[in-house]
Amino acid sequence: MLSAEQNEKLARVGPGTPMGELLRRYWHPIAGESEFETRATKPVRIMGENLVLYKDLSGNFGLMDRHCPHRRADMACGMVEPDGLRCSYHGWMFNAQGACTEQPFEDTANPQGRYKDKVTIKAYPVRAHAGLLWAYMGPLPAPELPDWEPFSWKNGFRQIVISELPCNWLQGQENSMDPIHFEWMHANWSKRLRGETGPYGPKHLKIDFREYDYGFTYNRIREDTDETNPLWTIGRACLWPNAMFTGDHFEYRVPIDDETMMSVGWFFTRVPRDAEPYVQESIPVWYGPIKDERGEWITSHVMNQDFVAWIGQGTISDRTQEHLGLSDKGIGLMRRQFLRDMERIKGGEDPKAIIRDPAINKAIPLPTIHRDAVMEGMTAEEIEAGGALHLKRFIFQYGQPAHVLKMQQEAMRISQDNKGYVDA
Ligand code: FES
Ligand SMILES: [Fe+2]
Repeated sequence: MLSAEQNEKLARVGPGTPMGELLRRYWHPIAGESEFETRATKPVRIMGENLVLYKDLSGNFGLMDRHCPHRRADMACGMVEPDGLRCSYHGWMFNAQGACTEQPFEDTANPQGRYKDKVTIKAYPVRAHAGLLWAYMGPLPAPELPDWEPFSWKNGFRQIVISELPCNWLQGQENSMDPIHFEWMHANWSKRLRGETGPYGPKHLKIDFREYDYGFTYNRIREDTDETNPLWTIGRACLWPNAMFTGDHFEYRVPIDDETMMSVGWFFTRVPRDAEPYVQESIPVWYGPIKDERGEWITSHVMNQDFVAWIGQGTISDRTQEHLGLSDKGIGLMRRQFLRDMERIKGGEDPKAIIRDPAINKAIPLPTIHRDAVMEGMTAEEIEAGGALHLKRFIFQYGQPAHVLKMQQEAMRISQDNKGYVDA
């Protein structure tokens, strides 16, 4: 159980808060690169800051304050130029570093005054990687943007799914260290949602949590598995500080502010060997709804079920009222690591999982339970006969648009649908 003060300290992310300062030491995915094939600017809100993301006419991305420092107009209505973003109210222009490079009337009326040298706009570095746009909002120099190995896996159909959830990000991230919820929330509850009362799925017998350089793994043995199973020998990866890697997809929990988070999923579906080589030029991005047309939470897909749990814990979960048990050892590890990291950055040190050496930042391997399957692939026939459900159906989130399903069908060349886990 936490004190109210610890709860606040762990959850709140505004500028100047201990967790806000800690999370600002990492790169965060904030949008999909392919979104900018059809737009030039996009308003975003990250860690309580209102910003605008843009792609300039040279193809470079930038992230700056939503409000122009002249008279506060909305920079999301700005005009992109070859080197930056120009406010559409009076034409002031800013580059990706936040320098004011033009003030059309001031430059004409009093060119010697160089008033523009006295004006800047808040700006943060942005990079494109793996089809995502990543922002770094902390002190410079920025660390390396992690290059996780799955981002360069070959022969996969990739898609990015973004959803906005009305709850604090930490509830999402604590789910990255929670093995037992699979048995109940995904296996047993899905059965109940299907109208069945049993039999329930295999019980967990033993769990473990192990630290690695970039997070912790959780490992488990269920009634139907033993100590040779990769879920025990390798486990699933909690990726520091606010993500999870399941073996075939990443889930990032990015704070929009204290009471809202953005779930950013990056999914890889290995195409059958018969469909190789498969090269995907652009990674589609889609936005997943969380409520149905009646206004009820969607519970048919794996991550939608998780969302319902996190939202149900409250806008900011009141951890003073919890009763943690043996199943929650990972939650304790995570919270203690965050509190230690807050102290470390106060002393000028880097927190856990910061990469500064470009030489090691090349396709960094992560604990990956399905690595062989992804590397070698399966034939279409093998997948049809006994492949995992996620190779035949997008089970993770509700709402995959028809055009993305079509792309997936074309890539996979075997039957694909996007019905949920509950319909399994
Ligand atoms: S408000 Fe932006 S240029 Fe005037
Ligand atoms: Fe889950």
